Amino acid sequence: MIPSSLRVQLGERSYDIAVNSKDLVGVGRFARERVNGTSALIIADTNVLAHAKIVESSLSQDGFRVGLAVRPSGEAQKSLDVAKDLYDRLLDLPADRRTLVVAVGGGVIGDLAGFVAATYARGLPLLMAPTTLLAMVDSSIGGKVAVNHPRAKNMIGVFHQPIGVWIDTSTLATLPEREYRSGLAEVVKYGVVLDPVLFEYLEKHSSDILRREPAAVGHIVRRCCELKARVVEQDERDESGSRAVLNYGHTFAHAFEAAAGYGAWLHGEAVAAGMVCASRLAERRGLVPAEVSERQIRLLRAFGLPVSIEPWPIDQLLDAMRADKKSLGGKMRYILPRRLGAVALFDDIPEAEARAVLTDVRGAS
Ligand SMILES: NC(=O)c1ccc[n+]([C@@H]2O[C@H](COP(=O)([O-])OP(=O)(O)OC[C@H]3O[C@@H](n4cnc5c(N)ncnc54)[C@H](O)[C@@H]3O)[C@@H](O)[C@H]2O)c1
Ligand SMILES: [Zn+2]
Repeated sequence: MIPSSLRVQLGERSYDIAVNSKDLVGVGRFARERVNGTSALIIADTNVLAHAKIVESSLSQDGFRVGLAVRPSGEAQKSLDVAKDLYDRLLDLPADRRTLVVAVGGGVIGDLAGFVAATYARGLPLLMAPTTLLAMVDSSIGGKVAVNHPRAKNMIGVFHQPIGVWIDTSTLATLPEREYRSGLAEVVKYGVVLDPVLFEYLEKHSSDILRREPAAVGHIVRRCCELKARVVEQDERDESGSRAVLNYGHTFAHAFEAAAGYGAWLHGEAVAAGMVCASRLAERRGLVPAEVSERQIRLLRAFGLPVSIEPWPIDQLLDAMRADKKSLGGKMRYILPRRLGAVALFDDIPEAEARAVLTDVRGAS
């Protein structure tokens, strides 16, 4: 039984998020209960091949004729060229309009497989089996799927909700430490943005979480999925502004990722430093006491995440922030904390204040 809190309620596009530990073999049954097709294409990358093989045999056992497309890892896979190769794989299968596309991997595979599922034959059912912490708590829920344009990340995409999300947290055992910690930045974000109780849990159980102790990991994954589900239900297509709260720290983060050179800083690492900047900015505006930033800094440090930035030119950072697609009409918009567990959107913050914060955080160690 999946608790109702782990169902994303979107009318006819509603779906369940199943969180378990060590039940990857259950995925076939989960799929079978949700689709009536006879074939499936699994899309995975080389680093999760062992997990993908388990999914493959599970789907076979439940009566699917299964194809397995294994790609190299890395953001470069999110391209129209790779999508075209995957359309070929679907034609070869051959796929029909009920063929299930199954994403086994991190956010890269989820976005890519989701894009292929959304566009082939005007839309195939999509099942997400995320294997990174980031994909479990964020990218596999909510239906945003995309590939990159050579000049713009995630620029070619649509909304395509999955028919279900199957999370086996034990797949995290093979995830590299740095990727795991990077995912924790998004978990901290959920605490700051929406849930002070989650934030306290993270503070209290940081060492269990770092050790990937199953109960602690299960707890945080479940809670983040619940929070993301509620946000997506309120603002499925990111139009009303309520989904935008999840961009806390991200305007800064995107500038740091660009300044470091894409890939040098992982996304979550940039989000960690970005949240510190956003919180310091809130402090400058008198929105929160210093304690709110200090607690985030302590927690992020405990998770081994960066809380300061490299000596990048501030003008370059501000240019990147202005160009970020989350800014509207060149005006920078910030999600800033009002207290732990609550944020608001601000679009009237003088650039000098962002500059001052960046200068401080650059100098901090
Ligand atoms: N659609 C959305 O709503 C959304 C939200 C956030 C991020 N994203 C996208 O997600 C992507 C980042 O996702 P990510 O951080 O998961 O990165 P990723 O998919 O590149 O995975 C990180 C690395 O870990 C490896 N890996 C994955 N699972 C593993 C496992 N269990 N064991 C061993 N290795 C494993 C991958 O091969 C890769 O090398 C970006 O492209 C971003 O744009 C999408
Ligand atoms: Zn993010």
